[in-house]
Amino acid sequence: MFADTTDHSLLNFEQRLVFRTVARGEPLMSQGEAADFFAIVLSGDATATRASSDGPVVLANLGAGDIVGELGLLLGRLRAATITAATDIEVLLGDETAFSALLDLAGVHERIGLQVSRRLAEDTKAIPIGRGAKDLVQLRPLVPGDREPIYAAANAASPQTLYRRFFTPGVPDKRVLDHLVDIDFVDHFAWVCLSEDAVGIGVARYIRDRDDPSSAECAFSVDDNWQGQGIGTLLLGSLATAALSAGIETLTGSVLAENAPMRALFKKAGARSRHSEPGVVEVELSVDAACELISVNDRLALTATVVDIVHAGGLALTGQRQ
Ligand SMILES: CC(C)(COP(=O)(O)OP(=O)(O)OC[C@H]1O[C@@H](n2cnc3c(N)ncnc32)[C@H](O)[C@@H]1OP(=O)(O)O)[C@@H](O)C(=O)NCCC(=O)NCCS
Repeated sequence: MFADTTDHSLLNFEQRLVFRTVARGEPLMSQGEAADFFAIVLSGDATATRASSDGPVVLANLGAGDIVGELGLLLGRLRAATITAATDIEVLLGDETAFSALLDLAGVHERIGLQVSRRLAEDTKAIPIGRGAKDLVQLRPLVPGDREPIYAAANAASPQTLYRRFFTPGVPDKRVLDHLVDIDFVDHFAWVCLSEDAVGIGVARYIRDRDDPSSAECAFSVDDNWQGQGIGTLLLGSLATAALSAGIETLTGSVLAENAPMRALFKKAGARSRHSEPGVVEVELSVDAACELISVNDRLALTATVVDIVHAGGLALTGQRQ
């Protein structure tokens, strides 16, 4: 978190913090409380839990260097989790002014933004969409825990699906797949589509254009057994809805000329297309028009879920992140 910070600015910042020890078993912060401070764990272990009807659910194990309590401060919400000392812990506590100073430290703004987006994404319950369609599916943002399922889906995909998605035969290199999982949610966002029994059946993503933050390239993949059943249509409408929240106006894509389903799908969203290199078609479509592929109710539900994630709780430096 502080890798880019000079000793001098770190020392200045530290003077705004209060040192505290919390004994093993005691709460550092409690779910439901007003969020008026954050904490940096200096030593020891702590656990983040959330109350549920089945008792507390462990969300994360925390240790030295972790920062907690920033979400409530940023979003002006009550604490969404309880942090309990698993061993005796030493922490530094900071108030809202200290939090602003924290964000001013070199590199910290971006890293906290990523942490906030990730925490919100991991916290998102899958949203049912496509009511009235043949199958009801659910969407949630892609999260780091999807790495293994993404590898498995790539290994299970047919040669045609892999070729149409990656333009090269065979399963892509692990580095390519890792790039598809290591997303920042602001400039690179992805929805995972789940069947009614919560099995992953498709992914849709956009990657914002570095030179034009109002434009992003999109890509889609639906499991072979689920293709041709309307999932791609729901994914394009849902991706456009997330893109709209992120301030993106245009989606672009490269499609193999022979890829009739994807070309038909883009056409349904009013895409303009032009041939580029032989066998490849470049498309460009309006985000507003693509949103129309899903119902207003679905759009409202997705937007309510995604807006803080794609803005990193208001911290996003759109188009400036790597
Ligand atoms: C392309 C893909 C994402 C589309 O998803 P999907 O769930 O199959 O799409 P849908 O069922 O919503 O169909 C979209 C449109 O494609 C057309 N379509 C569907 N199956 C088709 C087929 N076998 N042949 C021709 N057109 C077809 C239809 O016009 C359909 O719209 P409609 O049913 O309203 O008429 C999916 O087929 C896929 O993952 N393919 C392999 C990977 C890929 O090509 N990725 C795109 C790279 S950018």
